[in-house]
Amino acid sequence: MALEMTNHKKLNQWVNDIAQLCQADAIHWCDGSQQEYDKMVELMVENGTAVRLDDSKKKNSILVKSDPADVARVEGRTYICCEKEVDAGPNNNWAEPVEMKKTLNGLFEGCMKGRTLYVIPFSMGPLGSDKSRIGVEITDSPYVVANMRIMTRMGQAVLDLLGEDGEFVPCVHSVGYPLDGRKDLPWPCDPDNRYITHFPETREIWSYGSGYGGNALLGKKCFALRIASVMAKDEGSLAEHMLILKLTSPEGESKYVCGAFPSACGKTNLAMLKPTLPGWKVETIGDDIAWLKFGEDGRLYAINPEAGFFGVAPNTSLETNPNAMGSLQENVIFTNVALTEDGDVWWEEMTSEMPEKLTDWKGNSWSPGSEVTAAHPNARFTAPASQCPVIAPEWEDPKGVPIDAILVGGRRATNVPLIHEAFSWQHGTFMGSIIASEKTAAADGKVGELRRDPMAMLPFCGYNMGDYFAHWLKVGATEGAKMPKVFYVNWFRKNAEGKFIWPGFGDNSRVLKWVFERCGSGAEANETPVGFIPTKDALDLNGLDIKDDDLEQLLGIDPKAWLEEVPLIEEHLNQFGDRLPPELVEEQANLKSRLEAAL
Ligand code: GTP
Ligand code: SPV
Ligand code: MN
Repeated sequence: MALEMTNHKKLNQWVNDIAQLCQADAIHWCDGSQQEYDKMVELMVENGTAVRLDDSKKKNSILVKSDPADVARVEGRTYICCEKEVDAGPNNNWAEPVEMKKTLNGLFEGCMKGRTLYVIPFSMGPLGSDKSRIGVEITDSPYVVANMRIMTRMGQAVLDLLGEDGEFVPCVHSVGYPLDGRKDLPWPCDPDNRYITHFPETREIWSYGSGYGGNALLGKKCFALRIASVMAKDEGSLAEHMLILKLTSPEGESKYVCGAFPSACGKTNLAMLKPTLPGWKVETIGDDIAWLKFGEDGRLYAINPEAGFFGVAPNTSLETNPNAMGSLQENVIFTNVALTEDGDVWWEEMTSEMPEKLTDWKGNSWSPGSEVTAAHPNARFTAPASQCPVIAPEWEDPKGVPIDAILVGGRRATNVPLIHEAFSWQHGTFMGSIIASEKTAAADGKVGELRRDPMAMLPFCGYNMGDYFAHWLKVGATEGAKMPKVFYVNWFRKNAEGKFIWPGFGDNSRVLKWVFERCGSGAEANETPVGFIPTKDALDLNGLDIKDDDLEQLLGIDPKAWLEEVPLIEEHLNQFGDRLPPELVEEQANLKSRLEAAL
């Protein structure tokens, strides 16, 4: 029997049931204290999972190396288990719930032998906010416990909030490496039998075989997006893969902006950007997930359900993202980056000069010119959001912040301009529904391949994407709603030599300024077949050295090239069959005729 830490009968019963199934040696209820975190670190160091970094370089921080077979989200092994297959949609792998439960029961039976079972009560969103939701994760991984303490509000305070009968989403996780008689591994996992499963109807999550990121930190993608998207559909709100930032003009006026870009396409970077435009200020509310709900004034208010950043390390530097670097001075878990000889971390592009000698993410000795990268391309840092030098004072406001603009976008070497503004919410929904992006290392699969990733939610929407589009339209049609303007951005346009033609990063503040003005007093724009695009003069290019040719590409569209994409857009949308809202078919037809007229 578990030592009961709460009078919540249902929670106690569930913990006991799972403990029996998994046959753990011991049960530990997480209180969320610093001592407990330190204990997890100690366990990881003893087990060879983590090494402590030099305190004078990175205080109270560790480096963890994962198994090379367990380095990213596994979309092919991620399932939505609802009763009817059509409700999962072509955007998800589906499994019949009873069948999947049988499979899971088989896998979880005895899977924690020789291990401690940790119970992690956590809140997604500020403690006690009416926009927050509670989950409880059971795991056998100290790495998960430590990460969840940074990424969520976790521990005793959440049990107190739950009381005797509060609602919670049960989340069961195991690395899938029982210790019946065998020695532990530094990164135990079961890469051949991974299952990341969601039961949207009963609101449960079961994850087996992986210890990495979104596969294992179940509050993040599994709960805050896949399950929460279903909850949001039911209650008329939104749960989105979006950053949230506060943008303040030199005159001191602030606006709040959300941004939906696919994994490893620039959310963290934009959320904490250091503007190159004098007088402008960006402050961070969130860097990955936003929950948006209507306020009484008809505006959408967003909260960041997370408490930390699980950010991409490679390419993060003082030049590209000084505020991320500033967040990483202490209390950080680095995963799959390289180790320097003096006990610090390094990754590609972190410094212009490469260290002479490193230990790479696999533990091998590494020096410049080596054929492999020193850090894994999906190497990550876990850091408390409160450590961000530009965290907004209101980042934990339980009310959330009123959103003025929603940006969507992806990685496109061709065709898609730097920015274009939607004509309406319906048109904005259509724009979001056809986002295409080159794949990154954030998930298993071929990097660089172009795929449609609607609203950057393809791997994260817990139900049929056709219904999701309909939900966006319905939200926009809510009585009295004052919807944000929608913009489509692309920082990743390339020239014939394969080089990015837009400088990006801090210079994205130029684009944000135009967005700010479009949401307020106005700024000049050209009406094009795809949407409003800034005139050359409307985009503030002061102090930027950019060739006219390049600018023309960034702020222009080629109707012929776009028309070639139209059949691909049609094919993409047609996947959703009769779940595709007619409004999107209408938008697609309108786009086509506007493009034809522009030829
Ligand atoms: P997830 O955490 O996976 O959801 O990713 P994310 O959307 O937060 O992406 P992130 O900001 O971590 O950026 C991912 C990669 O894109 C990094 O290598 C960045 O350096 C790069 N990147 C971000 N912004 C820009 C930009 O404006 N221009 C260019 N060229 N690269 C960028
Ligand atoms: C993403 O892939 O979008 C991430 C990283 O933010 S993970 O937490 O692994 O999902
Ligand atoms: Mn993400």
